Amino acid sequence: MNKKTKIQILKEELGAVIVAHFYQRDEIVDIADIIGDSLELAKKSKESDKELVIFCGVGFMGQSVKILAPQKRVFMPKNACCSMARMIDSSYFDQSIAALESYGIPRNNILPVSYINSSAEVKAKVGEMDGFICTSANATTIMQYAQKESKKIFFLPDRCLGQNLAIQNHQSAATLGLDSKEDILKADIICYNGFCSVHQLFTPEDVDFYRQKFPDILVAVHPECDPKVCMKADFVGSTSQIIRFVQSLNPEQKVVVGTEFNLVNRLRKKNTYVLSASKPECPTMNETTLDDVIFTLESYKKGDYFHEILLNETIRAQAFKALDKMLNI
Ligand code: 13P
Ligand code: SF4
Repeated sequence: MNKKTKIQILKEELGAVIVAHFYQRDEIVDIADIIGDSLELAKKSKESDKELVIFCGVGFMGQSVKILAPQKRVFMPKNACCSMARMIDSSYFDQSIAALESYGIPRNNILPVSYINSSAEVKAKVGEMDGFICTSANATTIMQYAQKESKKIFFLPDRCLGQNLAIQNHQSAATLGLDSKEDILKADIICYNGFCSVHQLFTPEDVDFYRQKFPDILVAVHPECDPKVCMKADFVGSTSQIIRFVQSLNPEQKVVVGTEFNLVNRLRKKNTYVLSASKPECPTMNETTLDDVIFTLESYKKGDYFHEILLNETIRAQAFKALDKMLNI
């Protein structure tokens, strides 16, 4: 019996749903019931009628399902992590708030807005301070809501997304630890100094290279790219927004895409390029294999629970507050 058939049989027997982010390997996307960007995965997994979720992605994504639907059992075939999410934990969060207070910004005047790429503990801290969560698909809308509160916005952990949001709204951004106290105090958006190691691979020179090579080419990038790259692009959007943009193009229209390799490689057979001379794979996303999925399903069947997402209820409830606020907007 081949691996895919084995997964199909086990999945039906156990009543499981297999969920995969777009950056997963093709073999995983092929067997998934739900595929999407981080916003879609959180919403659709919550709404699924299946109580057993096999989540192929990185830790914060699996945690988001557990935060929103605590009655479900969520397992990750590989305990993969997002390097950006790992750049801030709850103690770094506290230290950042303390640094802002030492600059003279009172705690009750700081509004944290966290990108969904953060741990449940960090989301709980955001929830405690009545802050917001956003994803790359809804960051612009969430930021508009957050700024209505007329507080100092502390955007974490992705400084590039924070800077890109500021540029888009003709506002200023400054990064804690990189910019001066004066710049921090003047900034409309104060950013935490985190970034995505994969999207850092794309450079403005890569955009220039493709524009010189193919003068009519379009450039589509993810907002985790450096602002210098985003400013040169024709389209900036989340993974699902990039997919829809490329699918809407005339087949003869050349496009170069600045996001993870597995997604770009699957997009279109012709006239589609990766915006990098290297292969921009998200290393941990790329680790999950069919064997891992089989192992997880077989272990569950035997009652051996490997890589289950388990959260402290106080943390989950505080993180839920922030995530639910996003979903209600
Ligand atoms: P999306 O929400 O656009 O899928 O982005 C998630 C991510 O981690 C991109 O690097
Ligand atoms: Fe995290 Fe970057 Fe991988 Fe996305 S591509 S999951 S931000 S490390």
